[in-house]
Amino acid sequence: MTGDSTRDRRLDRLRARLSEQVALKDVPVTLPRAGRTYSILTPTDHDRLLDEAETDPEQNLPYWAEIWPSGIALGDVALARAAALAGHTVLELGSGLGITAAAALEAGAELLAADYSAVSLALCRHNALRNAGREPRTMEINWRAPTDELLAHADAIRGYPRILAADVLYETRDIAPLLALTERLLAPDGVLWLAEPGREAAQRFLAAATALGWGRESEAHDGPWTEGTNVRVGVHFLRRPGS
Ligand SMILES: C[S@@+](CC[C@H](N)C(=O)[O-])C[C@H]1O[C@@H](n2cnc3c(N)ncnc32)[C@H](O)[C@@H]1O
Repeated sequence: MTGDSTRDRRLDRLRARLSEQVALKDVPVTLPRAGRTYSILTPTDHDRLLDEAETDPEQNLPYWAEIWPSGIALGDVALARAAALAGHTVLELGSGLGITAAAALEAGAELLAADYSAVSLALCRHNALRNAGREPRTMEINWRAPTDELLAHADAIRGYPRILAADVLYETRDIAPLLALTERLLAPDGVLWLAEPGREAAQRFLAAATALGWGRESEAHDGPWTEGTNVRVGVHFLRRPGS
């Protein structure tokens, strides 16, 4: 059996399992700078997902089910800076539908994709395999209460040299936990690649990191984005104090 047919069978299995849980459609998503178009399997029934979120003890809304400019911009950055990812163990926090994940895998990263939603992690595996030809390792996490498994994995490799995160700061309650988790999981000379579309929580996170002495370089991405918004995405590269 060829590698392609094994991959196709795995994609069919993943898609069939996902279709039992959510209604789906394929959406083309273009990374504007790379000019690369991914086909992203995406949920369609957002109202039902919102209803289901009402019973979630953490009241997390199903933002994983949407395509976000920050995830596209960070995918572009992953391809543009492939040498900084290739061969490295990379963590993505809040991986959603897996657009950034697909690009990071295409760049050659050994990726652990982590998200609160198990369905989003299955979609991430599907979308990465379909577009990058490889699946990430995945882990269901809540960054407000990190598991021993997540911490032990980071300790085993002495911290992640790169942590990727796209549009994960939209709630005030996440600023302190995400800063603490980054400090705990990043290697001493590691870099957090954070993409954000100007939300207040992200600005407060960046200000808090600066106050603690973290260094930062930034670049701006203006799309065009798949869903037609004009938002400017900031992509920031954050390093520990003194590194
Ligand atoms: C706005 S979406 C962005 C998704 C993706 N990074 C992108 O840009 O397309 C935020 C993501 O963070 C995840 N998330 C939110 N709260 C979380 C938490 N407490 N722990 C882990 N993941 C969380 C969501 O499930 C979702 O996938």
